[in-house]
Amino acid sequence: MALLEIRNVTRRFGGFVAVDNISLGIEAGEIFTLLGPSGCGKTTILRMIAGFDLPDEGQILLDGEDLADTPPEKRPVRTVFQNYALFPHMTVAQNIAFPLRMSRCPDAEIRQRTRDTLQQVRLGDRAGRYPNELSGGQQQRVALGRALINRPRLLLLDEPLAALDAKLREEMQIELINLQREVGITFVFVTHAQNEALALSHRIAVLNSGRVMQVDDPPRLYGFPGNRFVAGFIGHINILDAQVLETAHGHTRLGIAGLGEIIVPPVAGAAPGGKGAFAIRPELVRIGVHGDVTELKNHFPCEVRNLLYCGDVTTYRVQLANGALIEALLPNSAPGRAELFKVGDAVNVGWRHDAGVFLHE
Ligand SMILES: Nc1ncnc2c1ncn2[C@@H]1O[C@H](COP(=O)(O)OP(=O)(O)O)[C@@H](O)[C@H]1O
Ligand SMILES: [Mg+2]
Repeated sequence: MALLEIRNVTRRFGGFVAVDNISLGIEAGEIFTLLGPSGCGKTTILRMIAGFDLPDEGQILLDGEDLADTPPEKRPVRTVFQNYALFPHMTVAQNIAFPLRMSRCPDAEIRQRTRDTLQQVRLGDRAGRYPNELSGGQQQRVALGRALINRPRLLLLDEPLAALDAKLREEMQIELINLQREVGITFVFVTHAQNEALALSHRIAVLNSGRVMQVDDPPRLYGFPGNRFVAGFIGHINILDAQVLETAHGHTRLGIAGLGEIIVPPVAGAAPGGKGAFAIRPELVRIGVHGDVTELKNHFPCEVRNLLYCGDVTTYRVQLANGALIEALLPNSAPGRAELFKVGDAVNVGWRHDAGVFLHE
């Protein structure tokens, strides 16, 4: 049984459906992420888990028990917000100890647990500082410490890293991963940043317009998006309209208008004539000259139209005979070897038969 079970939950504001019949199971000990564009219902879901808001329909169960009649302060759930919400007139140690003071814990125990928590969030040397003397990352760690000191079953994190700059955000992602492993508490993490979700989650639910689009672990979500929304929302991807021509034992043959036929792995539920799209990640597309890539099942002549040098990689945009553009990402893995091809070069693109996916719809 999942630790937290969200069963057919719907939440409306007036006539607007913010959360539309969502069901999710969150396992004990995982970092589970709700990922989706702004306004898709992420915060509303967290608020219902915390008890600040209630579903109009459906149930939320913790350890199999319906939480409907449990007020927020009685739920073993804590939330960390983007703005940290620290007490400015209290030191780091006082902020972290605050929930224990409220629950009238004995002084000796407060001292011990505050010390432990300060270590866990790596603020042992900042215990006597005030929030305005701390960096954004340190303030974030105080908020985490204060949320964790009461050992909740669930920690809810609502876009906690959104206010930090890119470098610091990456560091905090690693810290969150380490912290979660150390304390073993289940994290429900909310973000609109797909790279952040991929980096720190055990599993991700992709949401759009209040609905669940797909739930998977990061590599499956990235490698096998189930529909156009997920494919387009996570990472870069080439998407070409396609039609199923043949479903054979080991493969499926697709037709792409003006381009020709390609081979993809067997597609569940595909039937000849079925319409959809072919999607392939730029880093799985190879570029070659003089037949370099023609040993691949799928290969086409094309011309280099643009290239974008990014230091570590270069993105080439090549144009196929039918006018369609495909992006290929090539690593610049040898020093000074930045432009393998030039604009106007006649080349071939190719990819393995199992490199792309067919998307229904
Ligand atoms: N209290 C409310 N009253 C009316 N509309 C709301 C309320 N809370 C959220 N919404 C709407 O519900 C949708 C989802 O909001 P929210 O859960 O905050 O999205 P997210 O956190 O994914 O950005 C938005 O369109 C938002 O405007
Ligand atoms: Mg939000």
